[in-house]
Amino acid sequence: MKKKGNNQQPIYPPHDWEIVEEKFCPAYNQRNETVFTLGNGYLGLRGNFEEGYHGPDGTSVEGTYINGFYETVDIKYPEIAYGYPEKGQTMLNVTNGKVIKLYLEDEEFHMFSGQLLAYQRRLDLRNGVLHRSLVWRSPAGREVKLEITRLVSFTNKHLAAIAYEVTPLNFDGKIRLYSALDGDVQNQQAGTDPRVGSHLAGRALEVLAQNVNDKGGALLQQTKKSGFYLACAMRNQVEGPLAQVKTEKTPLRVGVAYEFAGEAGRTIWLYKYLAYVTAKDEAHDLLQQAENLVRQAEEAGFTRLRLDQQEYMAAFWAQADIEVKGDPLVQQGLRFNAFHLLQAVGKDGITNIGAKGLTGEGYEGHYFWDTEIYILPFFTNCNPAIGRALLTYRYHTLDRARRRALEIGLTRGALYPWRTIGGDECSTFFPAGTAQYHINADIAYAIKKYVELTGDRDFLFTYGAEILFETARLWMEIGAFNPRKENRFCINVVTGPDEYTALVDNNCYTNLMAREHLKYAVQTAKWMEAEAPAQYQNLCAKIGLDAEEIMLWQKAAEHMYIPYDQRLGIYAQDDTFLDKPVWDLEATPPEKFPLLLHYHPLLIYRAQVCKQADVVLALFLLSTQFTTEEKRRNYDYYERITTHDSSLSPAIFSIVASEIGYHDKAYDYFTATVRLDLDDYHGNTKDGLHMACMAGSWLAVVYGFAGMRVADGVLCFAPYLPEQWEEYRFNVTHQGRIIRVVVNKEGTSYHLLKGDPLVILDHQEKRVLTTKCE
Ligand code: BGC
Repeated sequence: MKKKGNNQQPIYPPHDWEIVEEKFCPAYNQRNETVFTLGNGYLGLRGNFEEGYHGPDGTSVEGTYINGFYETVDIKYPEIAYGYPEKGQTMLNVTNGKVIKLYLEDEEFHMFSGQLLAYQRRLDLRNGVLHRSLVWRSPAGREVKLEITRLVSFTNKHLAAIAYEVTPLNFDGKIRLYSALDGDVQNQQAGTDPRVGSHLAGRALEVLAQNVNDKGGALLQQTKKSGFYLACAMRNQVEGPLAQVKTEKTPLRVGVAYEFAGEAGRTIWLYKYLAYVTAKDEAHDLLQQAENLVRQAEEAGFTRLRLDQQEYMAAFWAQADIEVKGDPLVQQGLRFNAFHLLQAVGKDGITNIGAKGLTGEGYEGHYFWDTEIYILPFFTNCNPAIGRALLTYRYHTLDRARRRALEIGLTRGALYPWRTIGGDECSTFFPAGTAQYHINADIAYAIKKYVELTGDRDFLFTYGAEILFETARLWMEIGAFNPRKENRFCINVVTGPDEYTALVDNNCYTNLMAREHLKYAVQTAKWMEAEAPAQYQNLCAKIGLDAEEIMLWQKAAEHMYIPYDQRLGIYAQDDTFLDKPVWDLEATPPEKFPLLLHYHPLLIYRAQVCKQADVVLALFLLSTQFTTEEKRRNYDYYERITTHDSSLSPAIFSIVASEIGYHDKAYDYFTATVRLDLDDYHGNTKDGLHMACMAGSWLAVVYGFAGMRVADGVLCFAPYLPEQWEEYRFNVTHQGRIIRVVVNKEGTSYHLLKGDPLVILDHQEKRVLTTKCE
């Protein structure tokens, strides 16, 4: 299968710490709006222009998003069946606070009138700010220089700010800056691509109250169905020869216009501070809070916000950065990806990370297994507190998972939703949604890995255990010991990670991961009983768990049926997968990919063809359970039939290729991952960035090229240097320690930067790390 990414010209030139657009190109506007998004895990502002978009219709998606803030949508099924979710959740496009319009006398500035004499947009990854600088000549010949800097604060999640600098170059005259909060916004409508848009028609937010004065304004709004509240405030600080101020209030908007007596060469400044505050149940004080926040921000000033941002980013990069020598495009891609992951991730334990983060409306802002299997390792490593918060989100929604289990006919336990924001199942297509029961095992696996890397038993006992036990019950409810298969424990009618095969018996990945889940649940029960007996007793009483049930988990794990084909010497993706004809990928025209947009699902399900890594993913996640030979045989087989139509796929193939010594392939798959969004390989960056894929590029270096694993509690590496590189280095966290790994032509060195001495394995050989190092 030919992968994109290997020979493509980069869209953005290589810069170690920046993404630079040198020429304004309307045809790619939506893509650039996504790429230049700023966010802080709570608030996301797409890279829309302050003056709005005045070009041809449909080439801009104006977007402001708040993590966890959604509208409820009634789902209408022409043919409903029992247990289908009846309500969806759509991440809302909320009030646009970016609006700043500029008028030179009576001429309105925008990119489609007059002439752009100079233009540059620059995303500064190191410091977390976005710049636009330009020189514009109006149709009447007035020239003006603009410097616009935007940030979304990492140190106060409610805040964003814009510094707007105007210098008239060749004229004296009236200059007007109009700054507003615009509540007249809507979400994108669903079209033919099932991955994009929502069924939310019209405006979802109603205005309950408005304030406006010379300094700024505020709106209090409420969603029509979910009933959530949003208060949004702006405060404008201006510097320059101010002549007049006018306020404006319309039913959906508040604005203030500042008129200056402009003089050639004299700069005028507008600093705009924005705050967004939300509440799910009552509006109490919300408006006041937002107004206080912008007032405080103004007092602190834009420079202070920028310095705080720099400090935050410096701490982030100190642990999260992967430095690569020898390939500037890769370097840029890795940093772009890490930066956007940080911008997208909810850090409060009640929100999570959407498949597209806060960058666009693809997948309606929903959270998937992408978090646990792809994204969590990155955060556990670079900021364990965020890792913990992501898992705490699952605890926070455990009751909803319990309710869902009952809804679909289980008698107890919990089933997590395939896609959701608030915790309820939002998937309308159960064959590739609810049937992906593996979500429960993925969450369990993530808890295990988090605890392994951090040693955080407090999390395990306080939250993790309850999730593990309740979710383990699912397997006993949907699986059974099958006398026709030597009493092996079988799990029928499920869908594995590969969404091109659905509703099968004994999906190999699901069974392997369920086995791991059950074993870990048993292990956790033992630890907890020994180390925290009172807590354990309380939990057992709370959820009605006893020793007999745990023994049954043990038995199911020991007898788990794992489909294997003796003749081919490979794991079968499921009971019937290998009976199906192989899809002829060579004969499939390139324009027919992704298959999901061009063929009926049943046609796809009937063939051996994979959207993404399935068995191969298990080879990576449960890597110590397979021999290298086994990995090779399975990899060889499944690689031939995988389309990588999901962006989650290539990173996994890269990691396993690294492990089995297919270094060229590992690099190829890595390049198909690392700049997938920057170079828009899937042609849909405009709908939002692919967060799991971005995290995949980090995994492909750390777990792939450097071969990091934890085996029996021991941290192991098996690094090699891709021949395209001179060196790479990164930090990992292990049980409170920080270890720097440097791989270059001389070999690998390990430096213990923080924490107690430790023994690790390098290519199976022991190395003792002390603070003095190596
Ligand atoms: C993939 C899923 C993934 C989802 C969101 C789909 O295309 O098949 O595995 O969870 O995208 O990223």
